[in-house]
Parts: sequence; C-alpha cells; structure tokens
Amino acid sequence: MVTSMKLLILYYSGTGNTEFACIVASIVAERSGHEVTMKTFAKADEISLDDYDAYCFATPLQAWQPTKNVERFIKAMPSLDGKVAFLLSSSGGQPSQTAPLMTRWLNKKGIAVTGHHDLQSPDSWPVSRRFSHKLDQERPGVESVRELADFTRRMLDMQVAFLSGEQVVLPRHRVRPTPLFLLSRVERLPKGHPNLVMGKKKIIESDCTQCGICEKDCPAGAIRLDPYPVFSKECIACWRCINCCPEDCITTRMSSQYHYKGMPKKDELLEKAGLQ
Ligand SMILES: Cc1cc2nc3c(=O)[nH]c(=O)nc-3n(C[C@H](O)[C@H](O)[C@H](O)COP(=O)(O)O)c2cc1C
Repeated sequence: MVTSMKLLILYYSGTGNTEFACIVASIVAERSGHEVTMKTFAKADEISLDDYDAYCFATPLQAWQPTKNVERFIKAMPSLDGKVAFLLSSSGGQPSQTAPLMTRWLNKKGIAVTGHHDLQSPDSWPVSRRFSHKLDQERPGVESVRELADFTRRMLDMQVAFLSGEQVVLPRHRVRPTPLFLLSRVERLPKGHPNLVMGKKKIIESDCTQCGICEKDCPAGAIRLDPYPVFSKECIACWRCINCCPEDCITTRMSSQYHYKGMPKKDELLEKAGLQ
C-alpha cells in the first residue's frame, strides 16, 4: 500500500495565477506527507520525468484551450505508462474543453487522469479588460483557495489509491466538436497568429531601459534585445512580455492601457485559507 508519493507539479504561468494554484496544491500535498517538486515546463529538462509517482499538469487558458507551449510539451514528452495525474488550470472564467483535451493528450502517454480544477481569475483576461474593463479583484478569493485545497486533497487520495492498485473511478471526458472548440483549434493555425490575436507589438524606445526581463521571462524564447526587444515568429501571444515589463513600454493596439500585474494579496489569501 502506497502512503507517500513523489509528486511532480509541472506548470506554465504567464502572469502568476496558475503558479499560485500550483503553490496551493504543493502546500496541501506536502502537508499530506508527499514529496513535492514544482517545475515549469521550460525547466523540465533539468529532471527525469520518470522519477516521479504522480503528476499535476497545470496551464492557463488561452483562446479556450491550454496554452500552446503546454500542448507542445505534453505531445512531445515520453510515455509514462501506469502513472497518474491531476489537472489544474487558471482562466478568466471559461475553461471550456481544457479537461477533455489534456486528458486525451495525457491518456495517449499512458497517464490516467483523476480530475481537473480551474482557478478563475476574471481580472486578468485581456479580452474582458479591453472591452468591458470589468475588474473583479475579489476572485480568486479565500473561498476559491479553500475549494482548490479540498480538490487537491481529493486528487491526492485518488492518486494514492490508484498507485496502491485499488479500483479508482476516473472521470470520463469527451472532446466535443462545438463551434467554439473548432474556432479555438483553428485560431492557432495562421502563420501571423500572434499579431492576429494580440496586435503587433511596439516598443516605446524612450521608456525601455533594456533590462532584459521580457527576454528572460518569455516562455517561448521569442524575444531578443537588439538593442531593444525584437519578437520572433516563436511568439505564442501569451501577453507575458506586456504584463512583466516594469516600464510598460511594450504596447499593442489591442490592450495597452490594461496591464495585468498579477494577482494581488497572494500571501494574505494563503494565510486566510489556513495554508501559511
Ligand atoms: C492571450 C490570452 C487568451 C486568453 N483566453 C482565455 C479564454 O479563452 N478563456 C478564459 O477563460 N480565459 C482566457 N484568458 C485568461 C487567462 O486564462 C487567465 O488570465 C489566467 O488566469 C492566466 O493565468 P496565468 O496568470 O497563470 O498566466 C486568456 C488570457 C490571455 C493572456
């Protein structure tokens, strides 16, 4: 009978919401006696995926689906037959078919999926910030953190049972070819995709200090300083450069006045939810 697992939490987070969800999950898992490693997908080559018993895969939502870099990673990773994972996501409120899609990709790698939870962060979706600017700083709140913690406990119990050879009822997901789903999949095809979905990026050179934060933070390695930021076709339109620039000097015609600088009061939320 398995009692303690080696859990690997793999995530990408553009503005910190998904990372926050992973921190909550890791605190809960550690308190439950499991050994936890948290890694971004970009740094997963520093470890051997096979060394772990169980996994958590976490992604933000972009255009009603997991981000492009997360999809690429899962599809390219080796099979992990007999392993078990749960899924986390963070969205502006429309996780759409993230769970069926990721479950399908992971099942193809031999991984059983025990469940999915979405941490809703409506304040950080550029679409709503641009068109309604309807800020909702109350979410995620303490209640959502508690729900996430409860979900993690359930997932850990299921993973332990699964690895102990007990019968575990896994949720059944089916990808539905709805118009929105088809639109989201097609949206990624055009070559000029980043410019299409976020507008052409421009640098206000007089404000840029060439600090290199955007270059270092870009999850797709699509930025180089020459001497100001230059964007390559590897850009996945995640808005991270715009959100992480301390001088607000990267702009697009789509959203520039509404930079999301990350979820406020993270420590306070953890404390109020009894996780610190
Ligand atoms: C380019 C882009 C597209 C997005 N598309 C969606 C979407 O289709 N549905 C949704 O609910 N949220 C969407 N969002 C909102 C993000 O999923 C949400 O802000 C999430 O919390 C970001 O997580 P992160 O802070 O870990 O990057 C989008 C955000 C960006 C930047």
